[in-house]
Amino acid sequence: MQTPRTPKPRPLYDIIILGASGFTGKYVVKEALKFINTPSSPLKTLAIAGRSHEKLVKALQWAAHPSSPPPDVSIIIADTTDPSSLLSLCTQTRVLLNCVGPFRIHGEPVVAACASSGCDYLDISGEPEFMERMEAKYHENAIQTGSLVVSACGFDSIPAEMGVMFNSRQWVAPAVPNYIDAYVSLESDKRIVGNFATYESAVLGVANMDKLQELRRSRPKRPRPVIRGPHPPKGPMIEYQEKIGLRAIKLPSADAVVVRRTLVTLIENPHGLPGINESAEHTERRKAFWSTVKPAYFGVKIGSKSLSGIYRIIGVGIFIGLLSRTSFGRWLLLKFPSFFSFGWFRKSGPSEDEVRSASFKMWFVGHGFSDSSLASETNSKPDMQIITRVMGPEIGYVTTPIVLLQCALILLSQRENLPKGGVFTPGIVFGPDLQQRLQDNGISFDLISKSALPA
Ligand SMILES: NC(=O)c1ccc[n+]([C@@H]2O[C@H](COP(=O)([O-])OP(=O)(O)OC[C@H]3O[C@@H](n4cnc5c(N)ncnc54)[C@H](OP(=O)(O)O)[C@@H]3O)[C@@H](O)[C@H]2O)c1
Repeated sequence: MQTPRTPKPRPLYDIIILGASGFTGKYVVKEALKFINTPSSPLKTLAIAGRSHEKLVKALQWAAHPSSPPPDVSIIIADTTDPSSLLSLCTQTRVLLNCVGPFRIHGEPVVAACASSGCDYLDISGEPEFMERMEAKYHENAIQTGSLVVSACGFDSIPAEMGVMFNSRQWVAPAVPNYIDAYVSLESDKRIVGNFATYESAVLGVANMDKLQELRRSRPKRPRPVIRGPHPPKGPMIEYQEKIGLRAIKLPSADAVVVRRTLVTLIENPHGLPGINESAEHTERRKAFWSTVKPAYFGVKIGSKSLSGIYRIIGVGIFIGLLSRTSFGRWLLLKFPSFFSFGWFRKSGPSEDEVRSASFKMWFVGHGFSDSSLASETNSKPDMQIITRVMGPEIGYVTTPIVLLQCALILLSQRENLPKGGVFTPGIVFGPDLQQRLQDNGISFDLISKSALPA
């Protein structure tokens, strides 16, 4: 005789923020407090977790300031080196927001606990090797348990994912995009500064590039997106983009890799990912959304108004590229972050004023064909350009918490409309619903121009 299955008890918390005492974590708590118990918000119960009770209390006080911390936010002790503490978090929450990085060091046990227990997981990693390794190791398990595992829900890589989709959706048939380049411009009337952990994640990422290549070689080949027209031209190392007034150089961020993974999943699921128990209205919306997203080659560049700004970026790239190869070099880079990054990263992170003053613009310059039939002609060259822009506040500690929380709120309010489980990129999971939410929360999407290109 079969024993009747007892339904899973509803977890105590809607969201637990792990790593809430960290530099980014405390800003994520601040963002979450905006949504707790507001009438239309699905976030009703919140807990914060980490290694030190004292630090968590301080983070909560800081995040709630000038009010007193809400009495009903619980504090839970958990350590990524203690799997039982992570499993205990998973049984207590619907969604775990992981802010403990570098993810290559601390992330896997958290993903493993979520994938084995069926709890949903979002993080702010910008580390391609971590993301792809988690997909390789935990995707099947997460499908079975019903755990949605989505990395890169921060500035890496949501503005890029949503921005490239926004640009590609401006190409109305018969027009098709061929390549879209994103140009990131960071702006502030104070210094632009990031916290040490982001720099550490980048240094360790460059140091372990060969492991990422090895991982990719070991994995089955997936179909490539079918892109109309030729490969984009290589272009000079330092480009001048006249229309947006920026000089720019390639940025080896996670963005292009994440966008590509979204496009690959889209090839396998041309209408996006069906939800577990999706409403007919959502199915229709999802299909309509994905039918307007057209694949394009995609790359990201970092822009600066001045040539000296570009030389500084190249300088940091050379320091990290050369020194991260040896353990002594890595020690130097990590011991003196401010020196080797020309002041862009500090162990103490940016001041509140520096965070408040900063903002970003991400321009998407799309090249394509006014008629898709032109793309298959020999020696075809794009004859049309569409420029769009995503714009928002400071990237690491304002935009990142905004986008992470919006992803979490979609999970809480629309779980039935989302896939049962698996390890995915944010674009493919949240694509149809996220842009409007970001716009409602201070991140804008604008169509700047559509123009014909000279023959
Ligand atoms: N996607 C994006 O755009 C974006 C933006 C910002 C940050 N990030 C990433 O987010 C990560 C965190 O950055 P951050 O600047 O906030 O770093 P941070 O200030 O060093 O914070 C790290 C947090 O992790 C906690 N932690 C460390 N080891 C732990 C362990 N064994 N168990 C449990 N908790 C542990 C720390 O707790 P204690 O307080 O106890 O030390 C702290 O709360 C980095 O990987 C960074 O690259 C990404």
